[in-house]
Amino acid sequence: MTPDEMKKAAAFAALEYVGSGGIIGVGTGSTANHFVDALATIKGRIDGAVASSNATAERLKKNGIPIVDLNAAGTLKLYVDGADEATKHLHLLKGGGGALTREKIIAAASDIFVCIADESKLVDVLGRFPLPVEVIPMARSYVAREIVRLGGEPVFRQDFVTDNGNVILDVYNLEILNPVETEQTLNQITGTVTNGLFAQRPADVLILGTGAGTRTLK
Ligand code: 5RP
Repeated sequence: MTPDEMKKAAAFAALEYVGSGGIIGVGTGSTANHFVDALATIKGRIDGAVASSNATAERLKKNGIPIVDLNAAGTLKLYVDGADEATKHLHLLKGGGGALTREKIIAAASDIFVCIADESKLVDVLGRFPLPVEVIPMARSYVAREIVRLGGEPVFRQDFVTDNGNVILDVYNLEILNPVETEQTLNQITGTVTNGLFAQRPADVLILGTGAGTRTLK
């Protein structure tokens, strides 16, 4: 099985968590795209979806799934999204696609967060994948200096603007031994919108596509 087939298997397995009626939160990235395609096969069962990015909104629309504004949706029963890294504690590192802030907002506003990924995303310690930090443009240099003081190596993501009009610093070589603490520390730097650690609000379920079907961690 290729990694993409594993992502697809995890995405289709997440359909089990989609009940009848209600509005589903949908993430961003290649695994979340598979989930949109999976959701399209049962779209009659849901009332609509909240998208974590403009790209996901477009894909949902193309599949005939109504888009709902989170402000009009109330608490969501379910949010489904991928990850760049995940631990067995269901702490995640996300934002490779730059949609981390909207993803974190939807995760916070959802009762159940199901993370879907291929098995290569499971790690013992988060941080080999550079940690994305969304920053207000005028604060970019200041936030980068503060991150250096914390031991990280921030790299400005070139030619990229988030859906919120901000920029991304990808932080290399951070030792993320305590994801909850690191998430809080980085978020306290003035000018930071949020970072890609999902530890204060981790996933509730992690579905991994593997060479031998799917594996679920809770
Ligand atoms: C986007 C994300 C994605 O979930 C993450 O980058 C994983 O992407 P993919 O499913 O393509 O491997 O956080 O901001």
